[in-house]
Amino acid sequence: MSQSGKIGIVGSGLIGQSWAMLFAASEFDVSIYDVITDNVDKALVSIENQLNDLESKGLLRGKINAKQQLALIRKADTLQDCLQNAIHVQECVFEDLELKKKVFKQLDEIASDSVVLCSSTSCILPSLFQSELKHRQQAIVGHPVNPPYFIPLVEVIPNKHTDPDVVQRTRALFTQIGQKPVVIKKEVNGFVGNRIQYAVLSETYRLIEDDVISVEDVDTVMADGFGLRWAFMGPWETAHLNAVGMKEYFEKYAKSMESVCHDFGPVPTFSGKGADIVVEEMHKRIPVEALPERRKWRNERLIALSQLKKRLDN
Ligand SMILES: NC(=O)c1ccc[n+]([C@@H]2O[C@H](COP(=O)([O-])OP(=O)(O)OC[C@H]3O[C@@H](n4cnc5c(N)ncnc54)[C@H](O)[C@@H]3O)[C@@H](O)[C@H]2O)c1
Repeated sequence: MSQSGKIGIVGSGLIGQSWAMLFAASEFDVSIYDVITDNVDKALVSIENQLNDLESKGLLRGKINAKQQLALIRKADTLQDCLQNAIHVQECVFEDLELKKKVFKQLDEIASDSVVLCSSTSCILPSLFQSELKHRQQAIVGHPVNPPYFIPLVEVIPNKHTDPDVVQRTRALFTQIGQKPVVIKKEVNGFVGNRIQYAVLSETYRLIEDDVISVEDVDTVMADGFGLRWAFMGPWETAHLNAVGMKEYFEKYAKSMESVCHDFGPVPTFSGKGADIVVEEMHKRIPVEALPERRKWRNERLIALSQLKKRLDN
């Protein structure tokens, strides 16, 4: 069932602004609160610029124009004001366990019995700051990927006490605004996205340290190899299509997969020889001064890819 009403955003930085834009594009009323009130004023200016820029490039999401979307986003002077009548609150304060505990305690004191209290935390396990709350059954994590406007994945992670209905409502809400939520059924360190990213980083780190391959060639393996398929389908569908189905894939490859996996070395410390090689190669290839330009280059490509995916899927 489609949801409507007001969304509260707590914290008006990079991610708070992104959520505000995503919800406004789907015509929700959005109320933003920040402990530094000036930050909300700056965020509103930044959102206006971003919406106008997206509109001028034909990239604006939703059915209403930039001006109408901006009109749906307003500043809340207090946390109470932000939560008043909200159906969902998206917390976006700094990544710090003590701060998350403090903010969730404040939210808990004023929350209604129906609002969903959702944190954007990248890696703090929800039970660490949600399990003591009165409203812990309504608390959850919705971890986005930057930039959320063009990378729709959201990891939804319930704490140990989250009501299954809240998990479904959160998933449905993110789907409604055009994101792609996945539910992480158990709290695990790194959630799932970072576990996958770190598995790739640690194995390629070992290969670089052992002088099997250069840093640049690792990036080519991903960007001009596997990444092309993974932009459209995950590793399991890839495997399924690469054989006569998954059953035959395991029959054919399980032994060699196991043997290669046994060959993976110990967990690297990401310091010392391997780190020196990666730092030297990366800084030579893209000096720190060139990073803003390269981020622009990356964003343009992400935008083009997300448009292509939309076009192919429609
Ligand atoms: N930046 C990313 O790439 C990214 C991606 C996914 C998830 N996240 C997560 O999103 C959250 C926010 O990250 P960000 O990059 O937007 O941070 P940010 O530094 O851009 O913004 C944080 C904002 O929170 C405000 N704030 C601090 N304490 C507050 C309080 N007590 N009440 C209200 N507001 C408060 C700050 O004034 C600031 O405006 C973090 O948990 C982060 O891990 C970030």
